[in-house]
Amino acid sequence: MNDLAKSLRSQLRLPVMAGPMFIASTADLVIAQCKAGIVGSMPALNPRSTDALDADIARIKSEVGDRPFAINLVAHRTNSRLDADLAVVLKHKVPIVVLALAANPDLVRELQANGSLVFQDVAKNHHARKCAEMGVDGIIALTSGAGGHTGFISPFALAAEIREWWDGLLILSGAIATGRSVLAAEALGADLAYIGSPFLASTEANTQPGFKKMVVDCSADDIVVTDCFTGVDATFLRPSLIENGLDPANLARTEGKAINIDGGGDNAKAWKEIWSAGQGIGAVKKSGPAADYIDWLAEDYSAARKALAV
Ligand SMILES: Cc1cc2nc3c(=O)[nH]c(=O)nc-3n(C[C@H](O)[C@H](O)[C@H](O)COP(=O)(O)O)c2cc1C
Repeated sequence: MNDLAKSLRSQLRLPVMAGPMFIASTADLVIAQCKAGIVGSMPALNPRSTDALDADIARIKSEVGDRPFAINLVAHRTNSRLDADLAVVLKHKVPIVVLALAANPDLVRELQANGSLVFQDVAKNHHARKCAEMGVDGIIALTSGAGGHTGFISPFALAAEIREWWDGLLILSGAIATGRSVLAAEALGADLAYIGSPFLASTEANTQPGFKKMVVDCSADDIVVTDCFTGVDATFLRPSLIENGLDPANLARTEGKAINIDGGGDNAKAWKEIWSAGQGIGAVKKSGPAADYIDWLAEDYSAARKALAV
């Protein structure tokens, strides 16, 4: 195991990092995740303004102390808050920055020189190579079944392809929701498992009660993958599509062009009212504090290790 993985894992109860989730992840969720022993995370855009982001990060730092947490920055020219949010992230020396979209090597270097670790998510081996060339500290492999903008390659294939040449920090995602699956991710060569969707049902998540209930009630069969809202394949809960008057069997493929179902210039409705989750939610049996789910995850992880005598 590489030194960074060893050092991160020594600070955690479980080899798990939370995936940042648009709208859903809150500062309270990050604090709960970190206190329960995993890496907590949140998109920079979730607080309403850069000032609110500043206040949230200050609160997270004062609550979690030295525990590692991550902020997700959309490093794309369409993100009008990028420069201001970046300044806040630099000011607070956020321990881990997860970059999304069109990251550039100068940004990676600037964050690293300021003391942050930089991770980037990828869905293909050749994207992982580009990230390695940019000098990122950690590669997050998004594989099939992942919530949000999903991956489409099997975790067996993608982890193996990346591990052939990458001995740095590897984080694996895609429907990981049980302790047994966390152990399986390690067996595939990952240093950490990346878990998003189960936290949609957490008390601390900014998700409506109906969304939390749908996550508890649904399973892999209920997940529909479509590019029709954002122009990129993403996972949505079938009952939520139906509740919004859409026919899950007849969603047009847009091949890169998003439909603005709210008639506006962004796709927020696709995340706010049409709810996204990944295939792992069958493991989520109740809504409650994030710490309860993480406690269960830790127990399941120990039981899996015991069963396999590892
Ligand atoms: C509702 C939702 C919103 C998400 N929003 C973001 C986001 O803003 N930024 C990001 O990097 N990933 C986002 N993701 C992806 C997660 O960070 C993570 O990669 C994914 O949830 C892992 O798969 P899992 O849900 O099967 O655990 C989102 C996922 C979901 C389910």
